[in-house]
Amino acid sequence: MNELKNKILSLKEERSALVLAHYYQNLDVQDIADHVGDSFALAKLAQKASQDTIILCGVRFMAESAKILNPAKTVYLPADEAGCPMADMITPEDVIELRRQYPEAAVVCYVNSSADVKAVSDICCTSSSAEKVVRALDQKQIIFVPDKNLGAYVAKQIPEKQFIFFEGFCPIHNSLTESDALAAKEQNPNALLLVHPECRGQVLSHADYIGSTAGILEYARRTEKKDIIIGTEMGVYEILKRELPDKNISIIREDFICTDMKKTSLEDVLACLEGRTEPITMDTELMDRARRSLERMVDVG
Ligand code: 13P
Ligand code: SF4
Repeated sequence: MNELKNKILSLKEERSALVLAHYYQNLDVQDIADHVGDSFALAKLAQKASQDTIILCGVRFMAESAKILNPAKTVYLPADEAGCPMADMITPEDVIELRRQYPEAAVVCYVNSSADVKAVSDICCTSSSAEKVVRALDQKQIIFVPDKNLGAYVAKQIPEKQFIFFEGFCPIHNSLTESDALAAKEQNPNALLLVHPECRGQVLSHADYIGSTAGILEYARRTEKKDIIIGTEMGVYEILKRELPDKNISIIREDFICTDMKKTSLEDVLACLEGRTEPITMDTELMDRARRSLERMVDVG
């Protein structure tokens, strides 16, 4: 394993490659990355990258966003089949139909979506920037796609705007029930529950903190409380378990895993560095249209 890691680290230098990894990636993949972050941080790092090559260890929409934001670079998604089931729930035609029904509304598109959907939206957002993005818009009516749970959470923070939702969701976060939240709290009544806004409203109502993966990590590191229940994918729990051995960190449900995020292996990363994988390619005109929405998101910050 160490031999493989060392090979990746030296090839990374040799090939001028930037390796970015999401917090849900396997820890061995996170360990060889130059940066580990949430979707927003990874998009910004990709946009500013000066290296020739970006290897994005995550799921397809993340690698596509990196390519769209920095099209001159060669961008790889190491596990070709790593997708996001939520992104596959909506088509551009769905957005166009919503626009027809609500012509005054702005379309806010969660980055967990295809480039085609981004191209027909007004602005993108991530879980850490969604509220800021919606507040920055002049329109009072907001079509929020595709995540109905994140949309409902944002709508609650901004009651002065009117929201139209699409029926999309993350199958992993949406599978958490109120009983899961209550059972985890019952097992450890002193613990703080930190939850991702892709969860259902009934789960969020029991949370002590709601935020993106980066927000959850930051909160867990900062709090003086020792007992913490992680209400997002296993990767975040694994990072904290390793980093904070003096705290009592648990996961809300033992099977809380995004299988797509776990598809990336060190061998896949090596294959990118050795040129044995095909880089991301997309239609130039599609990338230009999708870039507007992504750049607006980054500009709002
Ligand atoms: P973050 O932007 O919070 O990292 O979330 C990405 C994601 O896919 C959550 O399921
Ligand atoms: Fe998509 Fe959910 Fe996996 Fe995030 S956790 S990548 S939203 S399926």
